[in-house]
Amino acid sequence: MRDRLKKLKNQAEEAIGNASSVAGVEALRVHYLGKKGALTLMLREVGGLPEKERPKAGRLVNEVRAALEGSLLARLGTLAAAERAKRLADERVDITMPGRAREVGNLHPLTITYRGVRDIFTGMGFTVHRSPEIEYEKYNFDLLNIPKDHPARDAQDTFYVADDIVLRTQTSPGQIRVLLKQKPPVRVIIPGRVYRSDDVDATHSPIFNQVEGLVVDRGITLGDLKGVLDVFVKKLYGQQTKTRFRPGYFPFTEPSAEVDATCAVCSGEGCRVCKGTGWIEILGCGMVHPRVLENVGLDTGEFQGFAFGLGLDRIANIRYGIHDIRLLFENDVRFLKQFRGAQ
Ligand code: DAH
Repeated sequence: MRDRLKKLKNQAEEAIGNASSVAGVEALRVHYLGKKGALTLMLREVGGLPEKERPKAGRLVNEVRAALEGSLLARLGTLAAAERAKRLADERVDITMPGRAREVGNLHPLTITYRGVRDIFTGMGFTVHRSPEIEYEKYNFDLLNIPKDHPARDAQDTFYVADDIVLRTQTSPGQIRVLLKQKPPVRVIIPGRVYRSDDVDATHSPIFNQVEGLVVDRGITLGDLKGVLDVFVKKLYGQQTKTRFRPGYFPFTEPSAEVDATCAVCSGEGCRVCKGTGWIEILGCGMVHPRVLENVGLDTGEFQGFAFGLGLDRIANIRYGIHDIRLLFENDVRFLKQFRGAQ
């Protein structure tokens, strides 16, 4: 038995030494020391030996068992360390590699410009009203005192969606919508896209952006109009900016005016942007035509109002020195990126 024990021990030690994985070591433990393991069976044999041989034989088996347990544990330690080292090596992150920078988006120049304009008017108590881009022809023209045969319709080449429905050519129909819904006092701006069937070039686009303004209340005068727009222009371009009101014509206002501001680029000296005049036209305006007020059921003896409309794209282009309006609509990321952090 002693010889068999020795042989078993050598065999086991060799197998353990050759085991190449934690699982392999575990299998060897079961094979030798498990309930039906080779050494366990030998321990059982001890019971069948003559009584005086038993203690010694038992001790021998237990010595071998202890030795094998030690070897198994040692091998397990070595293999576990190796496996861990390999896993760490496999999962290694090279922290010296350059990082992948994440692109951060930014606001569109038109959005930045609009928010600036909006904040000036909301600062004076105006609220923002949104009005549909697909509009009844009646709201876009007729109720604004532009009847079917009116030459102003030709000046605004219109996209028709149906017989009586158009893509709005101006934000002015928003005035009608607000007044049909809300009793005076009314003090709103109506921003948004407008559409005209223009040929595209550096200064024309079939889609562009306006901000409409409308104030209706009792006792509103031309002085209110001039005051509000003067504050607006000074906040937009700086306190030194001057405004100039020239007589103009719009069917929905009477009297009507066009407003120029001293050129923000050359401070009125005359430059390429203002074509040497020192002035830049920035909006159209006037006192709301009595017929428009009547069209929405208001008593013209009681209520008066003023309105204005400005082109946002032009304001943005002048502010940022953009020479081609198409850039605003092409969404070329190389262009848009340049407005990161712009004001
Ligand atoms: N709707 C006009 C246009 O598109 C701009 C405009 C002029 C709007 C005068 C107004 C206004 O409200 O009073 O050309």
